[in-house]
Amino acid sequence: MTAPASVATAPPPLANLDGQIVPLAEARIPALDRGFLFGDAVYEVLRLYAGRPWLEYDHFERLARSLSSIRIDGVDVERLRRRMHETIAAGSFQEATVYIQITRGSAPRAYAFPAAAMPLELLFVQEFIDPYREARRTGARVILQPDIRWGRCDIKSTNLLGNVLAMQTAREVGCLEALLYLPDGTLTEGTHTSLFGVHDGCLLTAPSTPSILPGVTRKLILRLAAQERVPVREEPLRRDQLAQLSELFLTGTTSEVLPVREVEYNQVGAGDPGPITRRLQQAYEQAVKAFLK
Ligand SMILES: Cc1ncc(COP(=O)(O)O)c(C=O)c1O
Repeated sequence: MTAPASVATAPPPLANLDGQIVPLAEARIPALDRGFLFGDAVYEVLRLYAGRPWLEYDHFERLARSLSSIRIDGVDVERLRRRMHETIAAGSFQEATVYIQITRGSAPRAYAFPAAAMPLELLFVQEFIDPYREARRTGARVILQPDIRWGRCDIKSTNLLGNVLAMQTAREVGCLEALLYLPDGTLTEGTHTSLFGVHDGCLLTAPSTPSILPGVTRKLILRLAAQERVPVREEPLRRDQLAQLSELFLTGTTSEVLPVREVEYNQVGAGDPGPITRRLQQAYEQAVKAFLK
C-alpha cells in the first residue's frame, strides 16, 4: 500500500530469541530443537504498516489457538506480544513483517512429547519489499495443484512442505500462487492465501473447516463485505465452477486483496480485476488508513 523501502535505507532485520534481541543473522537454534527435527512448531506472520502491527489481536488469538491445538503449554502469549513491540521499536521498522515461531523446544530425538522441554520462542522483524504491488493492480496468474497437505490445515504449523512444493511449481511456470484442490475437486485455498470467488454478485469462500487456515485477512474481508453490503456464502468453491465465476481473488497478510486474472491460462471473468474485488481492495485500504489515524 505504501512506498517500498529502499534496500539501502532499510533497517537490518532483528530477531528476538527467548527474550534476547539480536541481529537476525546471529540468532542460533539448537540442532535438537523439535521445530527443526519434526516441524513440531507453530507460527504467525504479521504485517506492520507505518511501524504498527496490523490485526495484532487476531494474529495473537490464532497463535494461542495453534499452540493449544498441538498442546504446547506454558507460553506467555502476552509476554511474546510485548517482546514483539520491543523488537519493532529497537529497529525503527515501518513497512515490515513480523515472523513468530514457537517450537516445543529441544530434547533427545523421540516422537512423543518430552517430559521436560522449554518451548523456544523466536520472532523476527524485517522490512517488507512488496512483491504483489503490480499484480494487485492488474491481477495475478495462478495454477492449480493437488492439495497434498495433512488433515489439520486450520493449525498454522510449520509443516509446510505441501505448500512449498506447490508454490515452487507455480514459480517455475511464472505464476504468483497455486490454488490447492482436494481429490473431489473442492478448492481449499492458496499455498499462502485464502480464496474468494464471485458468482452472480455473491461472494463465495470456503467455510472455516480443518481443510483451510482461518485467515486473519479472510476474516477482515468477510467483515468488510458485510459493511459494503456484498452478499456472502461460505461454501466450498469447486474446480468445475471456475469457468462460471466473474471474479476471483486471494487474500493474505502480505498479499492483502489480490485479484486473479488467469487460472491455468484460462481468463477469469472479463480478465481485469472485477468491481467487487476493487470495492473490497478499497475497503481494505480505508480500514488500514483508519487504523493508522
Ligand atoms: C495456507 C494459508 N492460507 C491462508 C493464508 C492467509 O492467512 P492470513 O490472512 O492470516 O495471512 C495463509 C497465510 O500465510 C496461509 O499460509
